[in-house]
Amino acid sequence: MLYDSQGLIMREIGVGLLGLGVVGSEVANILLQRSGRLSEQVGASVSVKRILVRDPNKQRPFPFPATLLTTDVSEILGDPSIDIVVELIGGEQPALDYMKKAITNCKHVVTANKEVIAKMGFKMLSLAAQHGVDLRYEASVCSGIPILSPLQQDLAANEINAIRAIVNGTTNYILTKMAREGLPYEQALRQAQELGYAETDPTNDVEGIDATYKLAILASLAFHTPVRPSSIYRQGISGLDPKDFTYAHELGYSVKLLAIAKRQGDALEARVHPTLTSLETQLATVDGVYNAVQIEGDLVGTLMFYGRGAGGGPTSSTVVADVLTIARSIAMEGIIRPRIELNRRIPVIPMADIQTRYYFRLSVADQPGVLAQIARVLGDHRISISSVIQKELDPDAQTAQVVILTHPSVEQSVQSAVAELAALPLINHVGALIRVEH
Ligand SMILES: NC(=O)c1ccc[n+]([C@@H]2O[C@H](COP(=O)([O-])OP(=O)(O)OC[C@H]3O[C@@H](n4cnc5c(N)ncnc54)[C@H](OP(=O)(O)O)[C@@H]3O)[C@@H](O)[C@H]2O)c1
Repeated sequence: MLYDSQGLIMREIGVGLLGLGVVGSEVANILLQRSGRLSEQVGASVSVKRILVRDPNKQRPFPFPATLLTTDVSEILGDPSIDIVVELIGGEQPALDYMKKAITNCKHVVTANKEVIAKMGFKMLSLAAQHGVDLRYEASVCSGIPILSPLQQDLAANEINAIRAIVNGTTNYILTKMAREGLPYEQALRQAQELGYAETDPTNDVEGIDATYKLAILASLAFHTPVRPSSIYRQGISGLDPKDFTYAHELGYSVKLLAIAKRQGDALEARVHPTLTSLETQLATVDGVYNAVQIEGDLVGTLMFYGRGAGGGPTSSTVVADVLTIARSIAMEGIIRPRIELNRRIPVIPMADIQTRYYFRLSVADQPGVLAQIARVLGDHRISISSVIQKELDPDAQTAQVVILTHPSVEQSVQSAVAELAALPLINHVGALIRVEH
C-alpha cells in the first residue's frame, strides 16, 4: 500500500503490459524502478500487475519477477484490477483484437502501434469514446518526439497548412550514408542492418510503408480528417543512385525521404517519396537516424520538432508519459474522453494532379541536337526548364548525363514527358526522376 505526503492511502492504478520486447522491457523497467516517484507525480500508486509474453523463459534485458509474466492474455484483459493496458506487441494482429477487447472491457489503452492507429485509429477512438475510456498513441509517430499532443493541444488554435517530415530513421540513415560517403544503396542498407538500424526484411522502412502510416496519423490530426495510408502516394528509396546525391548537392539540395501533407484549397496533398530538399532548410540538415517534423500553422508560423525517432529509451519515455496522463485523470476522477476531432472530410488530391518541381537525370548520346530534342518534348508537355547541366562525359561510350530542374509542373505531364523522352533514340535511359520541395 502506498501513502501520499499527508499520510493518506493512495489509490492503486493497475497497469497490464502486452509485450516485453525492445520497448516493453524499457517501459516495464521504468514503471517498476521509478514507481515511487511516478506515483507521487500522479497522486496514485501506479502498479504493474501482469506482462504478456510469448516465451516466459526468454532472456530479458532487465530481471523481471517471473510471477509478473503470463502467456495468457485473458489474465490481463479480464483482470478487474487492471485499469490501463499498454500494447507493445506491434503489427496488426493480434494487437488490434487485444486493444478492442481491452476497450470493451472498459480499460484505457496506450499503444505505440502506428499500423493499427493509421489503419483503424478513427474506429478505435470511437469505440473508446463509447466505453468512456482513453486511447493514447503518442509513441506511434516519431517515438520520443512529442508531436501528436502538441498538434492536438498547443497548436489547436491554428489552421495547419503543411507538414513536412522525416519520420523514418532507417531510411534517413541510409540516405545520409549515400550522401556523405557516396555509397550505393545496397551497401548503405547492409551497414544499417549490421548496426541494427534496419530489419532483416527492410521493406516496410525502405519502401516508405512505415512513413505512410506515420503521415496518415499526423495528417489526420493536423487537418481533422481521416487520412487513410492507402490514399497516400508512396515511393521508397531503393531506386536511388549515389550520383544524384552529388548532383543535387551541387544544385543546393539534399535528398531526403519526406512525408508531405499540404492543404491545397479544399483538398490535401499527401505523399511520401524521395525529395530534393533545399540545403537552406532545417530538414536538409537532419541526418542519421534522427527524425524531424516541420509544421506550418497559420498563427504560429513554422515549427520544427527534432529528436530520436526510435529506440527503447525514447519510445518508453513517450509511452510512460501517456500512461501517467491517463493515471492522473483516473486519480483526479476526471472525465476521460479521447478527442475525436476528425470531423472534416477533406479529399486527397490524386498524385497525377500534384504540381511541384522536378529533378531528372538523363543518360544521352553525346551528339548535337540532343538538348533541342529534350527541350521540345518538355515544351510540348508545358514543362518549363529552370536549369540544365551536362555532366560526366564518357568519350569512349559517347554518352553524357544531362541533369534538368524544372519549374512547377503537373505530375501527369512530367510522367508523360519522361516516357516520351525515354523512347527517343538519342536518350539511353532516364536515370532518375525526383520531386523537389520548395
Ligand atoms: N523499437 C522501436 O524503436 C519502436 C519505436 C516506436 C514504436 N515502436 C512500436 O512499439 C511496438 C513494440 O515494438 P518493439 O520494438 O518493442 O517490438 P519487439 O521487440 O518485437 O517486441 C514485441 C514483444 O511482443 C511480444 N509478442 C509478440 N507477439 C505476441 C503474441 N502474439 N502474443 C504475446 N506476445 C507477443 C513478444 O514476446 P516475446 O518477447 O516472448 O517474443 C515481445 O516481447 C511496435 O508497435 C512498434 O512499432 C517501436
